[in-house]
Amino acid sequence: MVSLRFLAQLVGVLTVVYAQGGPKNIEPDLYYPRQPDSPYSYPSPNATGNGGWDVAMAKAQRFVDRLTLEEKVTICTGNGFPPEPGVSDHTCQGNINSIPRVNFTGLCYADSDTGIGNAHSYGTGFPPGVTAASTWNRELIRARGFAIAEEFKVKGIHSVLGPVLALGRTVGGGTNFEGFGADPYLIGVAGYETVHGHQGAGVQAEVKQYLAYDGQQYNRTYYSSNMDSKTLHEILVWPYAEALRANPACVMTSYPYVNNSQASQNSYLINDILKTHLGFQGYTQSDWFALKSGVAAILGGMDQDMPGVAANGGNWSYFGSNYTAAVHNGSVPEWRLTDAAVRILTPYLFLGQDRGYPKVNLVDDPRLAISDAQRQRHRTVAQEIAAAGTVLLKNTPGKMGLPLRKPTTIALFGPAAGQNPYGPNQYGYGIGADPYEVTLAEAYNGSELNSGIELTIGIAQGTLAGGGGSGSTFYPRLVDPISAIQQRAAEDLTLVDWSTSTNLAVAAAVAKRATVCTPVVSSFSGESTDRNLTLLHNGDELIRAVADNCDNTIPIVQSVGPVNMEAWVEHPNVTAIVWANLGGQELGPALVDILYGNVNPSGRLVYTIARNTSDYAQAYIVKEPQPYPQINYTEGVSVDYRGFEKDDKTPRFWFGHGLSYSNFTYSDLEVNKQADLDEAISTPLKYVADAPGGDSRMYDVAVVVSFSIHNDGPYDGTEIAQLYLQLPEEAENPTKILRGFDNVQIRDGETQNVYLYLTRKDISYWNTVLQNWVTPRGEFGVHVGASSNDIRLTGTFIL
Ligand SMILES: *[C@@H]1O[C@H](CO)[C@@H](O)[C@H](O)[C@H]1NC(C)=O
Ligand SMILES: *[C@@H]1O[C@H](CO)[C@@H](O)[C@H](O)[C@H]1NC(C)=O
Ligand SMILES: *[C@@H]1O[C@H](CO)[C@@H](O)[C@H](O)[C@H]1NC(C)=O
Ligand SMILES: *[C@@H]1O[C@H](CO)[C@@H](O)[C@H](O)[C@H]1NC(C)=O
Ligand SMILES: *[C@@H]1O[C@H](CO)[C@@H](O)[C@H](O)[C@H]1NC(C)=O
Ligand SMILES: *[C@@H]1O[C@H](CO)[C@@H](O)[C@H](O)[C@H]1NC(C)=O
Ligand SMILES: *[C@@H]1O[C@H](CO)[C@@H](O)[C@H](O)[C@H]1NC(C)=O
Ligand SMILES: *[C@@H]1O[C@H](CO)[C@@H](O)[C@H](O)[C@H]1NC(C)=O
Ligand SMILES: *[C@@H]1O[C@H](CO)[C@@H](O)[C@H](O)[C@H]1NC(C)=O
Ligand SMILES: *[C@@H]1O[C@H](CO)[C@@H](O)[C@H](O)[C@H]1NC(C)=O
Ligand SMILES: *[C@@H]1O[C@H](CO)[C@@H](O)[C@H](O)[C@H]1NC(C)=O
Ligand SMILES: *[C@@H]1O[C@H](CO)[C@@H](O)[C@H](O)[C@H]1NC(C)=O
Repeated sequence: MVSLRFLAQLVGVLTVVYAQGGPKNIEPDLYYPRQPDSPYSYPSPNATGNGGWDVAMAKAQRFVDRLTLEEKVTICTGNGFPPEPGVSDHTCQGNINSIPRVNFTGLCYADSDTGIGNAHSYGTGFPPGVTAASTWNRELIRARGFAIAEEFKVKGIHSVLGPVLALGRTVGGGTNFEGFGADPYLIGVAGYETVHGHQGAGVQAEVKQYLAYDGQQYNRTYYSSNMDSKTLHEILVWPYAEALRANPACVMTSYPYVNNSQASQNSYLINDILKTHLGFQGYTQSDWFALKSGVAAILGGMDQDMPGVAANGGNWSYFGSNYTAAVHNGSVPEWRLTDAAVRILTPYLFLGQDRGYPKVNLVDDPRLAISDAQRQRHRTVAQEIAAAGTVLLKNTPGKMGLPLRKPTTIALFGPAAGQNPYGPNQYGYGIGADPYEVTLAEAYNGSELNSGIELTIGIAQGTLAGGGGSGSTFYPRLVDPISAIQQRAAEDLTLVDWSTSTNLAVAAAVAKRATVCTPVVSSFSGESTDRNLTLLHNGDELIRAVADNCDNTIPIVQSVGPVNMEAWVEHPNVTAIVWANLGGQELGPALVDILYGNVNPSGRLVYTIARNTSDYAQAYIVKEPQPYPQINYTEGVSVDYRGFEKDDKTPRFWFGHGLSYSNFTYSDLEVNKQADLDEAISTPLKYVADAPGGDSRMYDVAVVVSFSIHNDGPYDGTEIAQLYLQLPEEAENPTKILRGFDNVQIRDGETQNVYLYLTRKDISYWNTVLQNWVTPRGEFGVHVGASSNDIRLTGTFIL
């Protein structure tokens, strides 16, 4: 095998060669002045097989050796859009044609990473990424990934289009709910576990969208996300490096530009950072219709064009026969095509998808035949995640607040407490994707809900189980709060009352009669739908009308992200606040678990909830300048809670916050450096990876932090212990940053020892001069606690 150092030199040499002929001159990718430091990086590195991929890669090479040039192009080009139900090879959201000559079955790609999307299939509707992350529970996150992928496999789908590793930075960004919150460390852990879950079930995982498609939908194929090198590596690339260690098959590139170079043809991001620095062995795929060029994207490292046509319903492609022509006319060397095909087939063989994989059967016609992917244990997983991902923001234990103890009367309020009158599957790709149903436009024709964004928000009328667009899925059932609470309340003969109207006078009247009042409010967004932080359906007024008349008011918030709750959060009659995130199909039973204490709450916020929206670094959607809005990541590495801490702004609820029905006491902090640490860190790391994720020495354990947690009672419970590290000044990280956590189950009155392991990378920073990770010298502060602002133990170590 060619040594990595040699490969790096080779890359350097060839860059010069290319710079003369200039692939950059073939199809210029910039519309706006490109940042000076966003360099070109050619040629695209071949896969090496490093990190355990060698056997599958050798098989893939032998396979690709048997293919003609046109067949290799076939492997790299989706076969069109939209999907055509009933047409073989065309039923999925993305399809690679079969090649019967070599027994290749083709590939089927489908949304979403909350369950089977894009078709009316019989699968489970899991809670989305934001809720999974809010559990801070590695096992549950992995179990969710596994269960989702098991269902994809039943349907013969080869690849889950997820997980989403975006940073929830633009607070009203439409797709934030798909991702894992606003901290790169947490996103990295959740990404790693989800990839393991998906691929453990034999299905390809795609981490997405690389890079800096951080929620904003407005002009998403035109705006540019601009950030410096430190922010790029410490915040945005970090989750990818972590997730790559779980060997995802694919990295999907994003719609926007990064530093004004389109992400899908950004040779620095793909060739240099992803395929060289992070050693990625799988393939890159364009997000649907993201490509703005053929040759420039291919040379920039793009391996597969999805869906293979340049526009919805279009019949031409940047890839396809244009790819073949580009190889014939010398614009693309054939080895680049060969490497792309090898990269696409390697995970297929790595996961054994060539042997006995189910045939694609995505679309069910219940009148003819269905293949049911649902499983009872998947319902259990969905419910467990929804409960474990519920955050108790505030509580007044005792007579008021939670948990409920045989209340006399419980009243629920607001549209989100009950069913959507249009049914459970109206969030986004609901009706329209089902060939046996009417389209959205037909369904709402003539009603007040008839256009664009208003339509999408308008249809979030009932209880909110998920966000909209391709991150949504079909719900085979959706148990709303009223139904679930009625069922449980029957055990105590509690009277259940409600008003799902938005009429405040009715709400006030019903509130006067109840001993427990739970207004259920929501905030919706989705693909193509950004939002503001005001609750839907006049939620603020509803909560106030209830609280003014009921001294035990417990708002339940179903939300895609932070909302402004200042209008009622300090109301003296608000005795508890339940932050339900998005609960998926089992949201009702999960809510009952929390309210009645079957599950002791342990969810934690995965973002900070501000008092003023303007306190966020990216408080508003960026619309200027047209036509290429510029999103500058001006806060640098001080994202979310770090920015609040740095600027001394007190939010309403901090990142990592969440209460339990029990109290926990921390003690006995110990911080132990590995014996050889000083010696180890004096050896610089290599820029070129030796395995997916980067120089593998970065992931060696450097410091072990241990402590004890005692459950003071009165219930068994789970504490999410968090470790925040303050790096020495040299690291230019002005505040402490999350670098470890664990979910610790502790019985009432018992004590557990907790061990958290800091890797060399965890205690390092991105040095922009050396362009690598460097471990700073000096004193490190170790802060252990229950949230980013609730530190219980503090220690140090010195390097
Ligand atoms: C973007 O530009 C900044 C500075 O202009 C540079 O530090 C950074 O590495 C660039 N990032 C990318 C992805 O091009
Ligand atoms: C990729 O491998 C081919 C041989 O298979 C070689 O010709 C080409 O130069 C290699 N590309 C790079 C960037 O190393
Ligand atoms: C394709 O599969 C059939 C049946 O398993 C087998 O007989 C045939 O040899 C295979 N062809 C190739 C090219 O692998
Ligand atoms: C950006 O979005 C606005 C509002 O939707 C739209 O009018 C405009 O055409 C978009 N810009 C481009 C370049 O598509
Ligand atoms: C695409 O469709 C247009 C209009 O239907 C037709 O004129 C054109 O020939 C088609 N192009 C290809 C490459 O099939
Ligand atoms: C090739 O790409 C060009 C744009 O670069 C497009 O106009 C043309 O239709 C494409 N050809 C085919 C056959 O898709
Ligand atoms: C080669 O073919 C590609 C794809 O059709 C085209 O974009 C490019 O302009 C051609 N280059 C030359 C030098 O003919
Ligand atoms: C909407 O209704 C009008 C008349 O009521 C009808 O002409 C039109 O075709 C309908 N549109 C759709 C999409 O069904
Ligand atoms: C928030 O968005 C909703 C829906 O688009 C709109 O009706 C409302 O006026 C907006 N509120 C604020 C404060 O901007
Ligand atoms: C709290 O609720 C009681 C009714 O139980 C009501 O009399 C009182 O005015 C409420 N307090 C406030 C501040 O609205
Ligand atoms: C973003 O940065 C660019 C380049 O530094 C600058 O020209 C532009 O004004 C900035 N935009 C905003 C909204 O701050
Ligand atoms: C938990 O601690 C709080 C404040 O420290 C106290 O008010 C409360 O009574 C404690 N609860 C239990 C169950 O011990």
